[in-house]
Amino acid sequence: MNEEAVLRAEQVTKTYQMGHVEVCALRTVDFAVGRGEFVAIMGPSGSGKSTLLHLLGGLDQASAGEITLAGQPLSQLSDDEITAVRRRKVGFIFQFYNLLPTLSAEENIALPLVIDGQSVLPHAERIRTLLDLVGLTDRGGHRPDQLSGGQQQRVAIARAFINQPEIVLADEPTGNLDSRSGTAILELLQRTCREMQATILMVTHDARAASYADRVVFLKDGEIVHHLGQNGQGNSIQAIMEVMAGLEA
Ligand SMILES: Nc1ncnc2c1ncn2[C@@H]1O[C@H](COP(=O)(O)OP(=O)(O)OP(=O)(O)O)[C@@H](O)[C@H]1O
Ligand SMILES: [Mg+2]
Repeated sequence: MNEEAVLRAEQVTKTYQMGHVEVCALRTVDFAVGRGEFVAIMGPSGSGKSTLLHLLGGLDQASAGEITLAGQPLSQLSDDEITAVRRRKVGFIFQFYNLLPTLSAEENIALPLVIDGQSVLPHAERIRTLLDLVGLTDRGGHRPDQLSGGQQQRVAIARAFINQPEIVLADEPTGNLDSRSGTAILELLQRTCREMQATILMVTHDARAASYADRVVFLKDGEIVHHLGQNGQGNSIQAIMEVMAGLEA
């Protein structure tokens, strides 16, 4: 990993107001992802994983603390500027693919360009390359309902990378797939990270999925409570499961 952090959270706190009750979803979280890293976030249900991912991607605002994305402190940007950073610098992969049903695979992959007001034609080659990368060379004209779940998720991965984002954020990307399709997606993410020097942050419940990452960060009750995969600690499935068992106890 390069020393340079693509994404940094400093003392990030998020509270939700529920009537008279304050729910503290994240508590003074410090966290960074370096260029070219594949990092997994794990933790029990309700520990704040999705909240953290949404804040890091500029989809929601922190209550306190600072998030710096691609060198830009988000608290100093207007909403429009955050939207622009999100569109140009971040790719998103969701559990349920979120493809547009009326568009072909190729059109779905091109969608972030269209949303950003760019013309698609100059990117035709890149769309082709991404279709090849995700193993859908001959499926570019298929609509989502003509693709399997695993194939739809591969379209979503290609879409996440179309803008050459600084970082790709994935929330349970294999959560809706059988184990074989899930493995294919994880191998693809790992390979993309290595071959395209991409940076990926993935939330997952699944120890096996997390073991594909270079490093695993564990959240509990809105706080980072454990790391694996740095300082020589391995992030084998076994090691990850042991930490999770401790957190869920
Ligand atoms: N919009 C919201 N309004 C109020 N509370 C919320 C909201 N979103 C999340 N929370 C609360 O914040 C905490 C963290 O939620 P979050 O969705 O980040 O958890 P998670 O780790 O992603 O869980 P899961 O594994 O079930 O997806 C939970 O206690 C949740 O109830
Ligand atoms: Mg979640």
